[in-house]
Amino acid sequence: MATCLDSIYQGERTKPPPYKIQPSAAPLSLELFPPAPMIHLSPAENTPAACFRILFVRRPLDTCMAWIVENRRHAVAATSAEPLLTEQMKRELTEKYFPRYPTKRAVLLPALHMIQHQHGWIATQALEEVAAFLGLEPAEVLDTATFYEEYWLKPKGKYLIAVCRSLACQICSSRQLIEALKQKLGIEPGQTTKDGRFTLVEYECLGSCGTAPAALVNEVLHERLTPEKLQTLLDALPDDPHDYKDPTVTWE
Ligand code: FES
Repeated sequence: MATCLDSIYQGERTKPPPYKIQPSAAPLSLELFPPAPMIHLSPAENTPAACFRILFVRRPLDTCMAWIVENRRHAVAATSAEPLLTEQMKRELTEKYFPRYPTKRAVLLPALHMIQHQHGWIATQALEEVAAFLGLEPAEVLDTATFYEEYWLKPKGKYLIAVCRSLACQICSSRQLIEALKQKLGIEPGQTTKDGRFTLVEYECLGSCGTAPAALVNEVLHERLTPEKLQTLLDALPDDPHDYKDPTVTWE
């Protein structure tokens, strides 16, 4: 079935996925991630321009952490009557962080961290409240929040398990960790367990190559992991993720 590329790509906007499609003189068939249909390009269509547009194909949210795209044109964000950026948070930002930086906008990253730490993710309402508090446009806050993959703009599990998939960890069998987690949790990377306890993702280098393979569980780094160690670790996690902290780190 030939498919009009424009019908798929129109209005979609995302970063390119981590692969390239080389134009060639031969006909090209691409099986896209569901629910997109198979695309067949004739030699005439198989041009650099068409291939460039293929790079912008929409992928479902749960297939690839690094390149999440979402059609927000018709989305209606849920709001709560209670502010997500609470008075206590504002007070802490004002007293602790404003004095550290020359401008208010420089406090944007700590403010987003604070929101995510408290609520587990950063809702649109929170982005707007942070923007109003720091005197920024909501779009500026959204720009920043979408630049870093560590900020979550949709709900995730109580515990985010981020396994490093970069070279040193791959060499040290990080794939085994992922496979063990997939089996234990019954989810694929990018997905959340039904009970909302765990979200599994793969990150690039966590800066712990010398003690590979490494993974983050929320904000706690774990090194020299094995599937058995990981299993023990997950079984011992407290019910409230706020109680799970790295004792060697203080954020003061
Ligand atoms: S490659 Fe995994 S921590 Fe650097």
